[in-house]
Amino acid sequence: MTQTFIVKPSSKLHGTLRVPGDKSISHRAIMLGALAEGTTHINGFLEGEDTLATLAAFQAMGVSIEGPHQREVTIHGVGLHGLQAPSAPLYLGNSGTSMRLLSGIMAGQAFSVEMGGDASLSRRPMRRVTEPLTTMGAWIETKGTPPLKIHGRQRLQGINYTLPVASAQVKSCLLLAGLYAQGTTCVTAPAPTRDHTERMLAGFGYPVQQKGLRVCLQGGGKLQANSIEVPADISSAAFFIVGASIAQSADVLLEHVGINPTRIGVINILRQMGADISLHNQREVGGEPVADIRVCASQLHGIEIPKEQVPLAIDEFPVLFIAAACATGETVLTGAQELRVKESDRIQVMAEGLRAVGINAQPTPDGMKIQGGQIRGGVINSHGDHRVAMAFTIAALRANDTITIKDCANVATSFPNFLELAQTAGIQARSPKFILDEKE
Ligand code: S3P
Repeated sequence: MTQTFIVKPSSKLHGTLRVPGDKSISHRAIMLGALAEGTTHINGFLEGEDTLATLAAFQAMGVSIEGPHQREVTIHGVGLHGLQAPSAPLYLGNSGTSMRLLSGIMAGQAFSVEMGGDASLSRRPMRRVTEPLTTMGAWIETKGTPPLKIHGRQRLQGINYTLPVASAQVKSCLLLAGLYAQGTTCVTAPAPTRDHTERMLAGFGYPVQQKGLRVCLQGGGKLQANSIEVPADISSAAFFIVGASIAQSADVLLEHVGINPTRIGVINILRQMGADISLHNQREVGGEPVADIRVCASQLHGIEIPKEQVPLAIDEFPVLFIAAACATGETVLTGAQELRVKESDRIQVMAEGLRAVGINAQPTPDGMKIQGGQIRGGVINSHGDHRVAMAFTIAALRANDTITIKDCANVATSFPNFLELAQTAGIQARSPKFILDEKE
């Protein structure tokens, strides 16, 4: 099913909003809950297509899971060695996190499994996980992209691995394989990346040693069931944080958002551009820091985005490019070549989209140069990338004519009620039910 968003210009963004649960934490909660001993309760679970793909994969491997019902999920854990062979290949849709993290878990099983996904996932690089897993002793058949066939019954050895790219997915994959390995698995990252796996393993009673950028664990332990409260996803909140920063008039409160220091690059970057963002009611919920985020209208100015912020804002660049388009002067991003291998090539797709609405955007191999200017109306192809589709919906807050965005169905992978929340806050977006992309 394809879907088109049609967004009319508007200039105000107001209200108190709760965006859906964190995608990264929701995936990990299903995985660790399934592998734990006892019953795990999850609150605030993201009922998006990506996290539901992870949930369905564990159901297919014999784990009894109730829900999601009003964002609650109950998992009857089977223990680290209790999964059963699925009767068919696991289909993981659009979800790179499911594929890469599951690879680590599957490498340690006593059965073989095949994993595949949609056209976008089938283009994404998997050697970054299959190579170190093979060094650990796993046996994986792949041509470098999905599908992956992971053969069971291999003895895994701990590994001492330095990540060539700052990737939380690769780090997490190897730590999860490390649960099944003999000896110690240590992963060193070139820069800080999201640490939800480490935090959640500790919450499930599994000892994890962390020193600077190096994290280690010993194989052969146990996970104890836990209760998990998933905070709202800062990556989803980011659309409204940018929206309020670029609107002519705005005062938005985003409730109960995860502000893990490894995820707040979007706040750091926008503040440097002059955004008016304040954090309230800061607290810790289930091992993750949370706050209510208030954002008021501001005049942004262009900056050189500090390289160290890139991994901390890696999913937020589509909407940060919109912020740059609305800022005075030039914004320059470098050191972000990873954006080329996300759900789409986000450097190319965003540069094309920005040009289609009259913005001077020059893609570079590892980033983009954007001159702030007047956003015009136009037609955007999101290339099935959820974050590109949502970013251009937000851009309409500064556009002088209607923006039409094609291929938006994948918004449901991370933010199923995006359009409704955007409308509530003042964005004039609609998605006509009976217009298919091809017919327009
Ligand atoms: C994720 C890590 C990031 C991010 C992705 C989710 C995770 O990917 O882009 O959306 O949950 O670990 P990389 O590890 O490839 O940077």
